[in-house]
Amino acid sequence: MKPLRLGIAGLGTVGGGLVRLLAAHGDRLALRTGRPIEITAVSARDPGKDRGLGDLLAGATFYADAVALARDPSVDVLVELIGGETVAKPAVEAALDLGKPVVTANKALLAHHGLDLARRAEAAGVSINFEAAVAGGIPVVKALREGLAGNRIEGVFGILNGTSNYILTGMAETGASFADALGEAQRLGYAEADPGFDVDGVDAAHKLTLLASLAFGAAVDFGAVHVEGIRGVSALDIAFARELGFRIKLVGIAKAADGGLDVRVHPVMVPAGTALSHVDGVFNGVVVQGDFVDQMVFEGRGAGAGPTASAVMADIVDVALGLRLPLYGVPVASLGKAEVIPVTAR
Ligand code: HSE
Repeated sequence: MKPLRLGIAGLGTVGGGLVRLLAAHGDRLALRTGRPIEITAVSARDPGKDRGLGDLLAGATFYADAVALARDPSVDVLVELIGGETVAKPAVEAALDLGKPVVTANKALLAHHGLDLARRAEAAGVSINFEAAVAGGIPVVKALREGLAGNRIEGVFGILNGTSNYILTGMAETGASFADALGEAQRLGYAEADPGFDVDGVDAAHKLTLLASLAFGAAVDFGAVHVEGIRGVSALDIAFARELGFRIKLVGIAKAADGGLDVRVHPVMVPAGTALSHVDGVFNGVVVQGDFVDQMVFEGRGAGAGPTASAVMADIVDVALGLRLPLYGVPVASLGKAEVIPVTAR
């Protein structure tokens, strides 16, 4: 059977994790998909840098330019792990316009340009898969798009940013300072290139926008989402909350309300003993309420090389199997319109 030839754009934490995962499980995955999965080309800002990957990329062509990688005729699928919009967007567009499927972990790109990219993908008859863009290793995109397809989703909420949860947990459990806990999250490869995205709630809002679109089959305007991060949460707030029987968590909430959608990210006093209260450290937790399935709780590592590479590979397996799903679960033409209710009106 013809191999599936990957072009991996970005060799940071997640890209490196994916290379290692494929080296560890390539044979098993080939049995599962019926075809070998190969890395044919990679792109990175500094192709010569030593990434500790030994000779795992010995056979791959190196590019400094992600668009050139996407256009390489020997690349069947673009795996975009660069993040951000500047370099990633033209590379993803180039792949889609050439009829190549895309696997991406890029929540910022999809939260801002998902609709346009979904249109391009549909026009080209290929898919954009983004399991790794939301909640790291937790397969919550698949849960909403496939596993829970039989339900009308009434709400989805959760802890969606590993870095800020790591900081809040450190402040609560070990008395770590905000700055030290953030530094540790950066060292462990959890934080965004600009950690302001983590601590100011933006990254969680990107992910929530995607979950809300999937859950409600509607285009969600990222600009209308209320976003508040954890910079204003002090050690004293955490201690008082604990005395009262609460944990402070950065929570994203999306639910149907008053003919529109209530979509917001902010710190929440979570009662001890409830689903999200014990989701600590780099873990994420997502709660989905469906009309037939009732409440589902998902929990797992929300960032880091291994968990994120695990999610990327799930998408690559889908591409290898020929599975092609619309980005938001329904074609763009069938997406509903749902206004995000301003926080002042709630
Ligand atoms: N910076 C993100 C987080 C990475 O901490 O959750 C995973 O999306």
